[in-house]
Amino acid sequence: MVSWVRVILVLMACFTLPSIVECRTRHYKFNVVLRNKTRLCHTKPIVTVNGKFPGPTLYAREGDNVVVKVTNHVQYNVTIHWHGIRQLRTGWYDGPAYITQCPIQTGQSYVYNFTITGQRGTLLWHAHILWLRATVHGAIVILPKLNVPYPFPKPDKEVVVILGEWWNSDVEAVINTAMQAGLAPNVSDAHTINGYPGPLSNCSTEGGFTIQVESGKTYMLRIINAALNEELFFKIAGHSLTVVEVDAVYTKPFKTNTVLITPGQTTNVLLTADQGSGKYLLASSPFMDTPVPVDNATGTAILHYTGTLATSATTFTNPPPVNATPVATSFTVGLRSLNSKAFPANVPLTVDHSLFFTVGMGVNPCSTCTNGSRVVSSVNNISFVMPRTALLQAHYFKISGVFTEDFPGNPLNPFNYTGTPPTNLQTMNGTRLYRLSYNSSVQVVLQDTSVIAPENHPIHLHGFNFFAVGRGLGNFNQSTDPANFNLVDPIERNTIGVPKGGWTAIRFRADNPGVWFLHCHLEVHTTWGLKMAFVVDNGKGPNESLIPPPSDLPVC
Ligand code: C2O
Repeated sequence: MVSWVRVILVLMACFTLPSIVECRTRHYKFNVVLRNKTRLCHTKPIVTVNGKFPGPTLYAREGDNVVVKVTNHVQYNVTIHWHGIRQLRTGWYDGPAYITQCPIQTGQSYVYNFTITGQRGTLLWHAHILWLRATVHGAIVILPKLNVPYPFPKPDKEVVVILGEWWNSDVEAVINTAMQAGLAPNVSDAHTINGYPGPLSNCSTEGGFTIQVESGKTYMLRIINAALNEELFFKIAGHSLTVVEVDAVYTKPFKTNTVLITPGQTTNVLLTADQGSGKYLLASSPFMDTPVPVDNATGTAILHYTGTLATSATTFTNPPPVNATPVATSFTVGLRSLNSKAFPANVPLTVDHSLFFTVGMGVNPCSTCTNGSRVVSSVNNISFVMPRTALLQAHYFKISGVFTEDFPGNPLNPFNYTGTPPTNLQTMNGTRLYRLSYNSSVQVVLQDTSVIAPENHPIHLHGFNFFAVGRGLGNFNQSTDPANFNLVDPIERNTIGVPKGGWTAIRFRADNPGVWFLHCHLEVHTTWGLKMAFVVDNGKGPNESLIPPPSDLPVC
C-alpha cells in the first residue's frame, strides 16, 4: 500500500509541466481529437492533440525516458513521429505509418516509449500519415542534462516559436482532389506563428502571438517549421539573430538578419532586446525559387517591449522576396557545427557505401487524370509505393513479399541531371530498400534534377543525424567535388535543403539498427513518391540490436 502511494506521487511530480522537475521518466497523454477552428475566422473542425493548435510542447532533459500514450479519437488512422529523435534501437516508436508501425486506428491507443540519448535542443513531433501533420504537431524541448550549461550565455527566457500554415479547406480533401486530377494541390491560405496568422492578416481580429521583452535582456527563440509544403524565411524588424543550435545540435554562433528554415527543421536563435522600447514585427514568409504557386501571405507576430503602449506604432520589416536564393544560400552555407571538445563533430572520414540519389519529379501515364498523366516524384527514378504491412515488422518477422532490397545505389539510367531533361519522364514504382551493415559509414549525394523544373528539396533522414559535407550547383562531379568537402566542422542535422539545380552530400554512420525513412519534407513531394528507406542490420555486440516490438504495436 505504502509503495503504491509513493509510485503515484512520483508520477504526479513528473506531470508538473512545463516547469522541469527532476525525474527520469516523463509521461504524456496525447488525445487526438477534433477541435473547432475558433481562432482563425473559420469554425470547421481540425484534427488536434489535446484540443490544441499547435499541440502541446513536450519537455524533457537529455537522457530522459519519454512515455507518450497516444489515443486516437478521430475518424482517420493516426501515427505520431518524434522528428529528429534518434530512437536508438527503438524504431518501433519512430512513427512513420507503414514504415515503422501500422497506424493507430480509431478508438485505439499506442504507447511511444523512447530515451533521448546524446541530443539536446529543439525538435518537433508531428503526425506521420496522410496530411494530418498540418494541424497535428508541436515542439519537443530537450534541456541539457542537469547542471550542464549551454555552450553560450544562458538566455533570460526561452520562447517556442512554431511556424505553420493555415488551410481554410480540409487538407485531406486538398490532396485527394489533387491526386485524382494528377495535378499540384492548392496552397495554404495563410502562414501562422504559434497558430495565429497575425495582425497583418485578413483575420487580424483574431489577434496574434506576442513576445513580451524587456530592454537589455536576451531571449532564446526555439523556432520550428511545421508547415507542410513551404520553406520559410523568418526575421524580426530592427533586430539581428544569433543561431546557436539547429536540429538539436549546437552550432558555432552565427549572426544573421534572416533565418531560412525548411519543413522539419528547427533553429534556436538568441535575440538581444537591444532597442529601448517599441513594437517590432516578426515575419514568416515563403522561400520558393521555382516558379510554382506558393502561399504568399506573410505570417506575423509582435515583439513588444515592456512599457510600450499597445497603441504605439509597430516597426515593420520587409520579408525577402519569395525567390531570394542568395538570402537562402548565405544562411545555409554560414552554418557550422560547434565542434568543441564537449560537442565534437564526429564526421565519418572514410566511406563504406558511396551512394548517389537523384531527387526530383516525373510524369506518369494516368488515364483518369486531367491531362492523361500525373505528376510524380522519385528517388533514383523510383516512386516509392507505400506497403500495407509496416516495413519494420516485415523486416523483424521476416515477412516476405513486402519489400525488396534492391534500391539502386546509383541512377539506373544516368542523364545530364541539371541539363535538358530526357524525353521519357516516366518513373518506376516500387517498395525498394537499401541495406546497410551495422556501423558502416554512408555517403549520399542528393542530386536535384531539372525534370519538369529544378527545385529545392528539404530531405529528411529518420533515425540518424548526418553531416552536410558538401554542396554545389549543377551536376555533382565525383572526381573534383569531394576535394572541397568540409570534414572538420560541417553542420550536423536531420533535414537539409538540396539546392535548386544542385546537390548536397551527406555522411552518417549506420549505428542504429532498423528501418529508416528518407524523404522530402515537402508533404506534396512525399505523397508523390519522393521517399525511400534504409534497412540497417543488427550489430553483433550486446546493445547493437533492435529491441523486440511492444505488445501494443498496432496491427494493419
Ligand atoms: Cu518530420 Cu518522416 O518526418
